[in-house]
Amino acid sequence: MKIRRPKGTNDFIGARGLLFEELSHLGASIFKTYGFTPAILPIFEHTDLFARGIGTETDIVSKEMYTFADRSDRSLTLRPEGTASTVRAYLENGLTREGVQKFHYCGPFFRYERPQKGRYRQFHQIGVEVIGDPSAAADVEVIDSFLTFVEKAGLTGLEVKINSVGCPVCRPGYSETLIGYLKNGDEVLCSDCLVRREKNPMRVFDCKNPKCNEFMVDAPRITDCLCDECSAHHEQVQQGLTKLGHSFVVDKGLVRGLDYYTRTAFEICCGKLGAQDAVGGGGRYDRLVEQLGGKATPATGYAIGLERLMMLVEESRKDTESSSPVLFIAVDSDTTRLEGLALARKLREGGVIVQMDHLTNKLGKQMKRASKAGVQYVVILGTSELESGTVGLKDYATGEQSELTIDELVKKFSKS
Ligand code: HAM
Repeated sequence: MKIRRPKGTNDFIGARGLLFEELSHLGASIFKTYGFTPAILPIFEHTDLFARGIGTETDIVSKEMYTFADRSDRSLTLRPEGTASTVRAYLENGLTREGVQKFHYCGPFFRYERPQKGRYRQFHQIGVEVIGDPSAAADVEVIDSFLTFVEKAGLTGLEVKINSVGCPVCRPGYSETLIGYLKNGDEVLCSDCLVRREKNPMRVFDCKNPKCNEFMVDAPRITDCLCDECSAHHEQVQQGLTKLGHSFVVDKGLVRGLDYYTRTAFEICCGKLGAQDAVGGGGRYDRLVEQLGGKATPATGYAIGLERLMMLVEESRKDTESSSPVLFIAVDSDTTRLEGLALARKLREGGVIVQMDHLTNKLGKQMKRASKAGVQYVVILGTSELESGTVGLKDYATGEQSELTIDELVKKFSKS
């Protein structure tokens, strides 16, 4: 029997591998301009980190973690998200006295969810975290970095949804009001929501059950019960986004699936993704550093799902030509092959993508394979071209054929 990849995982090979790499590099180059530095952290952590950080009543911790005992019987968990680990690393590396810290990361994360389009058991996130800055401006700047990144990746038509989920001052009063409302839901709410009602009532907003959703349409919203500080913060975030020209909607039912959020919560969505429509999401988490053993330290950040981003980028590029022309050098003998290798090296130094076929000396066969592989240009370097010091260049898109010197060819294609 053939061994197949585990359910809910993906192979990124060929063009998809290239796109994965392109987007992670693009993210890193943009985040650098915002002053973020990379945080490369373990793929597994002590289970307790996520239980304490994300919240034991969340679906992630109660149902979705890949937890195992190692050979010394320690309980470890494959990281389901990156925020708790980043805070753990911030504390463990003694960065608490170094002022505001700004990190970005990209890597695999694991959740035992029911796989479907855009939802996997191993997925990848590109994320940023700002630790030590309480300002609304920090929230605005992280949302701006998200939008700059996805716009540079070629996406348009995204919807920015923001909300405030309050703070320890205003949330308890609101929870009381909400529980009062939920008490009328005995006949309607699903069994999970009946438990949430007792333990973590705001989670009911996040339920996927249509009956629960319908019941929650008239539920009281935290945005209407914010304390003065949370209200002012929420207002300032909106002013900042407006100033930067980012349109957004206030979604009063947006609560997010992790318990650490305070004040700003946001999601950036695209209808083209279907049911799993959030390209990414995040918000402020002013209590998490303290919950994980540090001093009270405000923080904000987000994560983008790389698979979802890739889906949208692939869709938006469907009808456009690839931006890097691929050259194929065709040769007709072992001697011209060596000349071809030397020419390929020169072109690659200028950033050009060059391919050759070392399996045959037949020009026709090589050109057929090149055309099948979707190559844009073929450079013909046969024995007669070598003698005359030129090469033939065929553009597959236009059918045009020309003759150039090697220097002219290198100049035409090199990027610098
Ligand atoms: P999250 O909303 O759980 O937030 O995940 C962020 C993004 O990761 C989602 O919007 C989605 O694009 C992607 N994602 C999540 N689960 C899956 C999955 N099973 N399959 C494919 N993609 C998925 C967090 O993880 C927070 N740590 C974000 C954050 C950072 N908040 C503050 N800082």
